[in-house]
Amino acid sequence: MATQQSLILIKPDGVQRSLVGEIISRLERKGLVLVGMKLVQADDALAREHYAVHAERPFFPALLKFITSGPLVAIAVRGDEAISVVRNIVGTTDGRSAAPGTIRGDFGISMGANLIHASDAPETAETELSLWFPDGTIDWTRCNENWLDAD
Ligand code: RTP
Ligand code: MG
Repeated sequence: MATQQSLILIKPDGVQRSLVGEIISRLERKGLVLVGMKLVQADDALAREHYAVHAERPFFPALLKFITSGPLVAIAVRGDEAISVVRNIVGTTDGRSAAPGTIRGDFGISMGANLIHASDAPETAETELSLWFPDGTIDWTRCNENWLDAD
């Protein structure tokens, strides 16, 4: 087991639908520690860099338009195996088939408007964290952290 950081975006649909509190609450209750958070209006350049891996895909223009359509919330969390833990909380990409109990499964019914992004591997987490939090994250200890880490 290893402590990791993961980059999360509450996408513009999550902000527009007033689901920011609900989503952050799920992350906090799981035991993840918030180490960075800000409201961002992403421009085209930032969106292109974030989703560069999909640049050649047919859905790329729609993805850019969607992710720049309004403010999003960029969040960095820390926790044991945080990258896979967050992906499990988020659910699979298409809300229609994402498992109930996951964020996408509970609140989404779309592939595009799927509420949330989460880093998918340590390498992508590192790249994404430096893209969205170029000044770094805030290293602090949550008062109940030792109650959450009793392996
Ligand atoms: P994300 O990067 O946003 O966390 O989503 P993900 O890992 O679950 O999915 P990914 O394959 O990385 O795709 C990024 C976003 O592109 C849209 N997409 N559309 N029409 C399509 O076939 C298609 N495939 C992907 C989704 O909105 C997905 O979140
Ligand atoms: Mg992805």
